[in-house]
Amino acid sequence: MFNKKDMFKVLVLVIVFTMALTACGTAASTATQAPAAPAATTAAAAEKPFGEASCAPNCTYKDMVMCFPQLGAESDWRTADTASFKDEAAKDGFQLVFSDAQQKQENQISAVRACIQQGVSVIALPPVVEDGWDAVLTEAHNAGIPVIVVDRTVSADPSLYVSHIGSDMELEGKRAAEEFNKKFPDGAKILELSGTTGSGAAVGRAKGFREALNSNIEIIDSQTGNFTRAEALPVMQAFLQKYKAGTDFQGIFIHNDDMGIGAIEALKAAGVNPGDLFIVSVDGTRGGFQAMVDGWFQADVECNPLLAPQVAEMALTIMNGGTVDANVLTNETVYYPENAAELLPTRTY
Ligand code: AHR
Repeated sequence: MFNKKDMFKVLVLVIVFTMALTACGTAASTATQAPAAPAATTAAAAEKPFGEASCAPNCTYKDMVMCFPQLGAESDWRTADTASFKDEAAKDGFQLVFSDAQQKQENQISAVRACIQQGVSVIALPPVVEDGWDAVLTEAHNAGIPVIVVDRTVSADPSLYVSHIGSDMELEGKRAAEEFNKKFPDGAKILELSGTTGSGAAVGRAKGFREALNSNIEIIDSQTGNFTRAEALPVMQAFLQKYKAGTDFQGIFIHNDDMGIGAIEALKAAGVNPGDLFIVSVDGTRGGFQAMVDGWFQADVECNPLLAPQVAEMALTIMNGGTVDANVLTNETVYYPENAAELLPTRTY
């Protein structure tokens, strides 16, 4: 039988054992519960993709408010792009918050901020230039508003926007270069009339052009005409003061049709027949097609402005919590004078 001393020892052992068990139990529950909170947060985040709207998965275009801070109205291409968004909104029945930044980045940034304040469902941003978007894109991101970068690109971190839909500007530049390579196998001197300085379109086209241009073709000068007819005309006039057409240069790479039309005006006014030079433009607008019919452009690299159907569809997918591609490039081609007259009546912009 146990005496009092033994009973006391057993009691002490039981107490120590119970305390150890309790301690283990606490440790075990702490160990299993501690990570549970972040895991639950991760699961919740995974369930609700960025930009998903409260109407998901049944959002329709009626639920969509799309902010479209258009960069300007500098060209026929831009006019067609604006019409594409307005027409799409009317067709689908979503609300379009439209503004025209007149080619000024600060106006675009203010318009984006107003849209964030308004709490739009999505922002479709056609950035006038590549740099300087980080702050406002971060604001949109923090407000939970998805941004689709449209047409030109931005240099901001891709985590700040959901996707980019637009043309491959580098490829357009490469395609233009191929035309010069074919025309001048023995080399030539050419001029470049470039688009808005710092814009994704101008940067990409210039880069692609230089990468693909044969080394025996020299770009003797390059100036910006800011994608407008009005600004391209005096630039071409200044070129003609410096260089003799046909002697000092044999061709011109022009970053869009509007500048090409301005340049043609300047050439004609200076008594130069534009058809005696090799002119390659970009866009494929009706004006560009007419310039090919008239014999002034020898090729027109397509850049398609009708982006709204893809942008609207992607925006609805994002609102409904679906996944989208990070970069959607438009399928494009090169147009030539041979069939310009036949195609001109079919051109919608
Ligand atoms: O970003 C697309 C370019 O911008 C087009 O080539 C030009 O016409 C427009 O202004």
